[in-house]
Amino acid sequence: MDTKLHTLLADLAAFGDAHDGDDANRATRMLNITPDTGAFLAVLVKAMSARRILEIGTSNGYSTLWLADAVAGIDGDVTTIEMSPQKIAMARENFERAGLENRITQREGDAGQHLQQFGDGDFDLVFLDSQRSAYLAWWPDLKRILRAGGLLVVDNASSHADEMAAFTEAVQADAAFTTSLVPVGKGEFLAVKSA
Ligand SMILES: C[S@@+](CC[C@H](N)C(=O)[O-])C[C@H]1O[C@@H](n2cnc3c(N)ncnc32)[C@H](O)[C@@H]1O
Repeated sequence: MDTKLHTLLADLAAFGDAHDGDDANRATRMLNITPDTGAFLAVLVKAMSARRILEIGTSNGYSTLWLADAVAGIDGDVTTIEMSPQKIAMARENFERAGLENRITQREGDAGQHLQQFGDGDFDLVFLDSQRSAYLAWWPDLKRILRAGGLLVVDNASSHADEMAAFTEAVQADAAFTTSLVPVGKGEFLAVKSA
């Protein structure tokens, strides 16, 4: 990672902590992944040479930047979905600041609607960090759009385990997936699709 991006990510992490720590900003929290989760995502992307990445839940683009920087070296790209127009605008500005805007496609609106539009096996890796109550309903499309051997990564699997219990149980019960809960950041639930 170059120094400019390293500095930008540190600035965004500090901004997120300060912004989200102020009760007055409760409705507009950034809810970014932790820095060690970003590093973990970068390792996963590079280890599996994942070139086609989907992120659900852009916020202001902190996690997207980790993913986009990781795929840049292998000519990959990231599609990221967000429903908040304000956050989409913040993310766009951050992507331009990082010089990674050409690696990132932003989609605006409800992720459930967008998921239906992707083709079977379109993605090598899907990072899910969004509306936890919807994950179970999204599962058929998430499963469909991952390629064989593709990886699903879900944030907040420890911090909000109860809220996604029905979803993680459904994934664990699916014979086509092998799963693991990794104690990085807020807990990362990994599910790899059989090759
Ligand atoms: C936890 S934040 C994402 C944080 C981001 N991944 C990061 O680490 O920088 C979740 C985001 O999902 C968005 N969101 C919630 N429900 C959504 C939905 N149904 N469709 C699209 N985006 C949604 C929220 O607006 C919020 O910005």
